[in-house]
This record gives sequence, C-alpha cells and structure tokens, in this order.
Amino acid sequence: MSEITVNLPHCKYSVLIESGIIAKAGQQLLASLGLSDMKDIKVAIIADEQVFNLHGDPLITSLKNQSDGVYAFSQVEGEKQKTLERVRSYYDQLLSAGFDRSSCVISFGGGVVGDTAGFVASSYFRGISFIQCPTSLLAMVDASVGGKVGVNLPQGKNLIGAFHQPRLVLIDPLVLDTLPERELKSGLAECIKHAVIQDPELFSWTKKNIKSFLKRDPKFLSELIAKNVEVKARVVEQDEKEQGIRAHLNFGHTFAHAIEATLGFEKIKHGEAVGLGMLAASTLANKRGLCDASVRTDIYEILELAGLPTRADLVSNKELIESMKKDKKARAGKMRLILPTKIGEVGVFEDVPENELIPAWDSIR
Ligand SMILES: NC(=O)c1ccc[n+]([C@@H]2O[C@H](COP(=O)([O-])OP(=O)(O)OC[C@H]3O[C@@H](n4cnc5c(N)ncnc54)[C@H](O)[C@@H]3O)[C@@H](O)[C@H]2O)c1
Ligand SMILES: [Zn+2]
Repeated sequence: MSEITVNLPHCKYSVLIESGIIAKAGQQLLASLGLSDMKDIKVAIIADEQVFNLHGDPLITSLKNQSDGVYAFSQVEGEKQKTLERVRSYYDQLLSAGFDRSSCVISFGGGVVGDTAGFVASSYFRGISFIQCPTSLLAMVDASVGGKVGVNLPQGKNLIGAFHQPRLVLIDPLVLDTLPERELKSGLAECIKHAVIQDPELFSWTKKNIKSFLKRDPKFLSELIAKNVEVKARVVEQDEKEQGIRAHLNFGHTFAHAIEATLGFEKIKHGEAVGLGMLAASTLANKRGLCDASVRTDIYEILELAGLPTRADLVSNKELIESMKKDKKARAGKMRLILPTKIGEVGVFEDVPENELIPAWDSIR
C-alpha cells in the first residue's frame, strides 16, 4: 500500500492506494474517524450508477460491517448531472434518512460524482465528513485530492463550489480495469500536465512507461497514481486556496475550457482538451521566447504516444478567444495564462495580447 499524507494548517488526511482497498473501506473509515466503533454513524455512498453496478458490492459489504446505517444513492453518469438540482435531491434523501452532523458522505465514481458529493458534504448541516473513493484515473490523480468541490450552472462549469477537504481518499487501482479507454487516456493527460509543470524526471518516466499504462499493468498504474497524487498533494499544501502556485495546475486549462465550451462536453473529453491546451500554450510560449521549440515537441510526442489528440476541428479563433475571456480564471477581466519555460517549470502571465493567441490556436487545428 502507498500512503500519501496531505498536510494543511487546519487538517491532515491520507490518500491510500492499494489494489482491493475498497473491500476494506469500512475499517479505513473507522480508523480515519478516530472512533472505537461507528455502528451509529450514518454513511451515504453517492455513486456513479455505472461504477456502482460494477464495483459497489465490496464497498457496501465492508461499510455494513462497521455501520448499521449505510445508504447508497446513485446518479447516472455525466457532466450534465453536476447540478444544484441533483445536490438538492441528495439533501432531501439525507434528511429523510436522518443524517446529522456526525454522519458522512462517500463519493464513488469519477470527478463528476466526487465534485457533487463533496459539495453536498461541504454544505449539509454546514459541513459533514467526506471520503473520496475515486474510480477514474482523472479523479484519482487530480479531482479527489485538494478539496475543491462544486457543481455547474447553466451559465458555466464549476461556478458554485467550496473548499471542503476529504477526511480520507481511498484509491483502488483495480477498478481501472473497467474504465473506458478514452477515459484512461484523458486521465493520462492530467498526469502529463503534472510532469510538465513540476518534474522533468517524472516526464521521462511517464513517457518511457506509457505503453504499460495503456495496457493497464496494475503495478505501473499504482506507481503512476502515487507519483501524481504526490505532485498534487505538495502543490495543495503550499497553496490550498489557489492564491499562488496552485494556479500552475491550470496549465493548458484556459485553452481547454474554451475548447470544451465551444465544442460541447459530449464531443471532447476534459483530458483531451487539456492535451490540446498544453500544445497551444507551448506554441505561444515558444513564440514569446519563453521556451525552446523542443518543449512543444516533447509534449506533442508524449501525447501521440498516449493516443491523445494533437489536433481538433475547432470553431473560429474569434469565438475561441471570446470564450477564453469568459473563463472564470480570468482575473478582473485579464486573462491569466500558465506558460511553460521548460519541461518541469511554468510561469503565470497576464500580459498576453489577443493577437498572440491566434498562432497558438492555429497550431492545433
Ligand atoms: N475538484 C477538482 O479539483 C477537479 C479536478 C479535475 C476535474 N474535476 C472535475 O471532474 C470531472 C471529470 O471527472 P472524470 O473525468 O472522472 O469524469 P466522470 O466522473 O464523468 O467519469 C468519466 C466516465 O467514466 C466512467 N467511470 C468512472 N470510473 C469508472 C470505472 N472504474 N469503470 C467504468 N467506468 C468508469 C463514468 O461512468 C463516466 O462515464 C469534471 O466535472 C471536472 O470539473 C474536478
Ligand atoms: Zn483538468
């Protein structure tokens, strides 16, 4: 088992990575709550329906061994479900089942369920205990660590939310066996991002082993998850509320959000858009003289090896740039871009004129 600790000034929690760990969720939860017994503690599993059908039994059994009040609520998959209406329906179900301040919520699924369940836990009775059990690679290496929770509004993605750190994160790499291939690759894009922003050695290691990840070799996947959780955890420890270095995790994302918003979430996966966004950002950085052309070539090659797209059928530059300006990461109307200076290092730039975005977009058409 790998254990990574996230140490924040107001709380500390473990991320446990082990094959088969969902069958021990009850014991791990009991230990993390610091109780001798949790028979009277109510536990709600908020799950992605598909994931629950595939992998829910050992989780339920293990929790029922510890608590007499285990409830499972599930939602059909998809970003469209990340809404306040869905959150409201969970509040109703928790209230009917008698959940109180001592109760807890476990998310079981990808980032959609993690963000939604986390928001429920952050706001129900002003905040109850929350456990993340991520089942997509993207949620394991990114969404489940760091405490950002929330839902979408019709006006935009992730506009409503909170910081609510989990008490525990349980990662079972075995569940990745059933993850659709496109989703696996989408998660790999966030791993590539972590390497580009922080660590040239991680970049080379990721590149060298990419075929093993795609073959879902459990040993390599466990190592990949542990190395990436480590990157995310260390960034969050330095800057929980994204006032500084945590913004580096948005590398590629201002471009990615414009791609997602203009093409639609059904057409493109988040990680695919992030891969394209990293390419566009590295074109821009190179043209500004911030980095060598080799940075873009390195990112291009690793994306190709991972089977991620390096080009897309995009809308006009004008529409893309308008969408970038609306991104919530823009500060006081100024677009903030994270641009690479070399593999393993990025910086924040707020002075990029619009005309410099055009060749960046053209480089991924
Ligand atoms: N909170 C954060 O810090 C943070 C960070 C990154 C992304 N996010 C959010 O995460 C969401 C994207 O997460 P995602 O990519 O996991 O999407 P997702 O939750 O929609 O899951 C992707 C798909 O994979 C399926 N799936 C998941 N695990 C599976 C498994 N083990 N076996 C079979 N199928 C499985 C799901 O049913 C779904 O169809 C977005 O809403 C994004 O905003 C949040
Ligand atoms: Zn992302």
